[in-house]
Parts: sequence; C-alpha cells; structure tokens
Amino acid sequence: MKKRKIWIDCDPGIDDAVALAMVAASQDRLHVLGISTVSGNQTIDRVTENALKLSAFLSLNVPIVRGADCPLLRPLEIAGDIHGDTGLGNCRLPETQKKPEDENGLLFMRNTIMHLPAGEKVTLVPTGPLTNIALLFKVFPEVKERVEQIVLMGGSAGGGNVTPYAEFNIWVDPEAASLVFKCGLPIVMCGLDVTMQSGLNHRQVKKLLSSSHPVQHAYGEMLSFYLGTTISENRQLVCIHDAVTILFLTNPELFRGIYAEICIDCSEEHRGQTILRPVSPEELSRISAPVYMLNKTELPKFQEILLQKLCSLA
Ligand code: RIB
Ligand code: CA
Repeated sequence: MKKRKIWIDCDPGIDDAVALAMVAASQDRLHVLGISTVSGNQTIDRVTENALKLSAFLSLNVPIVRGADCPLLRPLEIAGDIHGDTGLGNCRLPETQKKPEDENGLLFMRNTIMHLPAGEKVTLVPTGPLTNIALLFKVFPEVKERVEQIVLMGGSAGGGNVTPYAEFNIWVDPEAASLVFKCGLPIVMCGLDVTMQSGLNHRQVKKLLSSSHPVQHAYGEMLSFYLGTTISENRQLVCIHDAVTILFLTNPELFRGIYAEICIDCSEEHRGQTILRPVSPEELSRISAPVYMLNKTELPKFQEILLQKLCSLA
C-alpha cells in the first residue's frame, strides 16, 4: 500500500507527544516529510526541544524545523498549567544531539512540499495553533496546490476548554485559524466534540506507568501528569486530543462526523469560537470546501489501537 505523505505541525505538549508516538508506530502507512513546531503549549524553544527529543526517543528520523514563536497578531499565551514547565509534564526524556534544520522553517516546509514528485500531495496535520499553516499559505500560496487535505486538532461546536466558547489551539491564534478555515482546502476538524471522548482511563495510564519498558513508562509519566491537569466529559478519561488526528489517518473507521461550514470568531468577547453551520447532504455539492467535523469515537477500539501502537514501539 502506498504510504500517505504527511507534514506534522505541533506544539509538544503531552498529547502532541502521543500523536508523534502514533506516527512512529505507523511508518508502514505514513511517510512523514517533516515536523514543524509552533508556540502554544509552551514557548517555541521548549516545544522545539521537545520535538527533537521525542523524534530521537521514538526513532522518528525526520527533519524538524522551528516555526512561529508567537501568534500572527496577538501576544503568546502558553498552557504551562496543563503541560508543565517543560511541556512534557514531569517526564525527562534522554538528551539528544539532534538539531533543527538551519533553513527558515517556513521556507523548508515550502520547498519540501513543492519538490514532491509530480502528482503527489501532502496531508498537513496541525496539532497546535495554526500560525505556521496560515503563514505558509499566505507567503507561499503555491503550496496549496500540493496539499491533499488538512487534518487538524482544534475547535469545538459545543463549548471550549480555555473559555466557555473556545478550544485552546484556535483561541491562541484565531486570526490564523480564520485564514486556514477559509483556505478552500478539504479540512477534517478533530475538535473537542470528538477528542473529549477519546483517551485512556486511569487504570490504563497506571499500567503504562508501571511498565519497565522505557517508551511505555515515559508515556505513563506524561499521561499521569496530564490526568491531573485536564478534564474530560466524565472525568474518567485523560483526553488525548492530538492523537485523534493520526488515528483518523490510520483507522478512520474509529470515528464519525458531520459536514459543516465553519468560521472563526476573532472578536474579544468570543475569541476563538468555532461557529458551525451543519451542511445537509443535498447542499454538500454546492459548498466549495465543507469541513468534516468529527463528533464520535469508538472508545474501546480507540484505546485498544492506541495502546497497541504505543506498546509496539521498540
Ligand atoms: O485543546 C487541546 C489542544 O491544545 C491540544 O492540541 C493540546 O496539545 C493543546 O495544544
Ligand atoms: Ca497540541
């Protein structure tokens, strides 16, 4: 089976770290062209350091580029209370000699995508604020011709996790999100509607933590920290928001969704709210770029596949 070419844009971040582990365990299906970092969960220095350490720890040997250190227009607001001072909770990953690419991150992304063989396209997988993706499309609009789909973690039709209206990734940089949701490319939105029902329970996290296996133990440490700082609908789960993007690519049968038109509120009052208008099947053909918004997970199967992938990592 031909591997799907993807580019990951992330702000590791504990759940970003799980998403990277899912990728590392799916390299038979996914060809990672590169990873770019964006400030969000932590500062650009810390998320870039985490991406470098994670790629070495997971033997995910792909180029890593440093992206935007702040949103398009607004000051950076990080989530140190959720992901800890390092961005990976209390987990201390091994040091690495790996360095980011010297070239400007945006230019590296553009050249990597534009140099794909004729007829080949990339799927962009943003799991942090959309600053880099908005800049990429604005500065190098020719890239859009080579993008097959955007599978992003962000947004919410049913209330936020930063304010009553807004999910963190969209809230941090609503102007960037607005540009991306208007870009005209097919978007799969993995918002809180699906990610708040997608995670591991306390027993599963405890089992990882008790493992003598370095990868499983490290993720047990990260998720134990995350359990203490995030909430799920029923408080029985640690929601692993970003992992939904990768498992949608490898196991789409785990999820259900609806088509909708989505726009982003950039006002101060409802900053970062994703405003949704469901689209009927009849309308679908008339809408230029409907968003496919996931809203249902098969949780037992999600957990089985996530743990299977995590435990498959040598
Ligand atoms: O709201 C959850 C999102 O914000 C996730 O991507 C998490 O990593 C944080 O970036
Ligand atoms: Ca993230």
